[in-house]
Parts: sequence; C-alpha cells; structure tokens
Amino acid sequence: MESKLIDPFGRVHDYLRISVTDRCNLRCVYCMPEEGMQFEPTERILSYEEITSIVQALAPLGIRKLRLTGGEPLVRKGLDQLVAMLSAIPGIEDIALTTNGIFLETYAERLKAAGLTRVNISLDSLKPERFARITRGGKLHRVLEGIKASQQVGFKPIKLNVVLMKGVNDDEVEDFLRMTLEDPIDIRFIEYMPIGDSGTGWKSSYLPLEHVLKTCGTRWNYESCGDVYGNGPADSYRIVGAAGTFGLIHPVSSHFCGSCNRLRLTADGNIKPCLYWSDEYNVRPLVGNDKAVRDLFYKALGSKPETHDMVKALKGQQINGTPTLRHMSQIGG
Ligand code: GTP
Ligand code: 5AD
Ligand code: SF4
Repeated sequence: MESKLIDPFGRVHDYLRISVTDRCNLRCVYCMPEEGMQFEPTERILSYEEITSIVQALAPLGIRKLRLTGGEPLVRKGLDQLVAMLSAIPGIEDIALTTNGIFLETYAERLKAAGLTRVNISLDSLKPERFARITRGGKLHRVLEGIKASQQVGFKPIKLNVVLMKGVNDDEVEDFLRMTLEDPIDIRFIEYMPIGDSGTGWKSSYLPLEHVLKTCGTRWNYESCGDVYGNGPADSYRIVGAAGTFGLIHPVSSHFCGSCNRLRLTADGNIKPCLYWSDEYNVRPLVGNDKAVRDLFYKALGSKPETHDMVKALKGQQINGTPTLRHMSQIGG
C-alpha cells in the first residue's frame, strides 16, 4: 500500500490540476499580455500518454479529482481522447475542465461522452463590448452558447468564474447574481490575484469581495450553503429561494491555504506544489517509472509552503521564497 499524498502541514492532497497547454485563443487582461507570449514548442508539452501515465502512478496515492486547465484546454486537439484515457483509470472519480467557453458548443457532447463530469467557465462580463475588451477580442455569444450546450449535455454543476475588477465589471455583480435566481448555476466571484506579470493591472483593479455580499444584501436575502459539489476554494451562498448559488473565492483578502488539497502539473511537465511560489519539479524525464514519479511528487509535497505570501509581497515585506514568474496562463489558475 502506497502512502497518501500528505504534506508537512497534514493537508491531504487528492486533487491534481493538469495544464494541457499554455496557449489560448483569448488574451484576458489579468492573465496574459496583449501581445501573447513565447509559447512552448509542441515537443516540450506532455503528450496525452505521458499525462495518463503520471495520473496512473498517482491514483493509488489517493488522487481522485482531476481538473484540465490551460491556457485554454480546448485549443489542444482531441482533448476528449485525453478525458477518455483518464476516466478509464481506476480511482479517478471526477474529471473537470476550466475553460473560457468559446469552443464548448462544439465540444461539449464529445467531452461528456468521453467521461468529463463538469465544467467551470470564465465569464467576466455580460456586456458584449466589455467582454471583448476584457478578453481582448472574445465573442460573448459564443460563451453563452457554450454554457447552454453544457447544460444540455448534463454537466453538473456548471460554475461560472467572474474575476471581479474595480471600475471594470464591479457594476455587474447584481446582473450576475440575478442569473442564479432561475438558473441552477453557480457563479463564483474571484479576487484578482497578482500572479506573474499578469499582476501589472492589479493595483488599480483589485477589489475585495465584501462588495459582492454588500450588493447582494441591498437587494435580496441570502444564506450560506454547503451543497455545491467540489467547491474547493469558494465560500458558497444562495439567494433565498434561488435555483443557483454564488460563491466567493478570496485568495487575497483571506486565503484558504489551510484546506489546500491540490497539486499542479504544468503543460511542460513540472509539478507545482503551490500556485504562488516558483518551486517546480520536472517530472517529465521520469514518466514510465511509476516509483520515481511518485517519489518526485512526495518530494514536491514535502517542500510545499503553508501558504502563499501575496499580501506580504505586495506590501514590500520580507518573504521566504520566490514568487512564480509564470503568467497565470502558464499555470492554469
Ligand atoms: P472547483 O473544484 O469546482 O471548486 O474548482 P476550482 O475553483 O478549484 O477551479 P477553477 O479552475 O475554476 O478556479 C477558480 C479560481 O480559483 C481561479 O481564479 C483559480 O486561480 C483560483 N484557485 C484555484 N485553486 C487555487 C489555489 O489553490 N490557490 C489559489 N490562491 N487560488 C486558486
Ligand atoms: N486572478 C484571479 N483569477 C484569475 N484567473 C486567471 N488569472 C487570474 C488572476 N490573475 C482565473 C480565470 C479562470 C481561472 C482558471 O483562473 O478567470 O477562470
Ligand atoms: Fe494551496 Fe498555494 Fe493555493 Fe494556498 S496558494 S491554496 S497553498 S496552492
């Protein structure tokens, strides 16, 4: 019997976020520079077989939940094949996708058939021009069609990720909340994180999430709820009588590291024990040797810090480590 993935702070890790590409069809202002990036050449990206082999090595250690991220995971060809390969691994109970939703209408059915269980979709504005400005060219109607397609094929729950930005989309909180009244959807408001260079606009745009509860409270009664499946980092609420829920993900104003259960695998084959810090462990050369792969994951976990230090770093205080230089698009959130 292999040992579970437990870090020095007693946190049990059962969740792996797998970035399948660093490329994206959009350039969201908080995630990637307008001019794009130097993307990894294809040969440096883990193949589907390599990803599957890594997950096969980890499932006996208690990894049960997988999330496919990017960049934008649906720009990689044949993602449904990877989903099918992963869903055949004994012990894997949940395979989710975080996507910008543009290609969902095209792929929702195939992904569902392959074994994808659920989707989280980024959606920062319900106004077409504003949506285009935030994403630098995205078409809102494509995302809305993607959401509809996801509902039709039966992904459940469907979560919408709204990164809240001061002066950009903070006047839309009420509109997003209203969507939950009739729709069994989970809207999560997310604090803008200063990660990598994406943090350049952070100082002017960061907004703590009390704004959401305040706005909600002026219009509706709401209550805490604990029934949203897989809501790792979010505190969940429901407007009384609403079909859907809303959640707050507040890594900056109040971190949730004490309950962290996740590890990350970058598209170029590095284990990232924490989203925030630069520490990485290149697992690619070990793929195929399950014992060596597991040992490197144990080693990575052994070095996992108790928490991120976003706030200290922003205040210019001393921190014990180096924050990641990767853009959010190279981590997958
Ligand atoms: P669920 O399993 O459905 O709860 O998904 P999730 O919220 O873990 O994943 P998603 O990819 O939808 O991420 C939502 C937001 O939470 C993004 O802004 C992520 O960057 C952020 N996030 C996810 N995991 C972590 C984490 O471990 N630490 C921090 N600081 N932020 C995270
Ligand atoms: N701060 C907070 N959330 C972010 N995301 C991307 N960059 C940031 C950031 N700087 C979110 C995206 C997506 C998820 C993967 O991470 O909106 O929903
Ligand atoms: Fe876990 Fe790091 Fe995220 Fe905190 S910042 S929840 S330790 S990954």
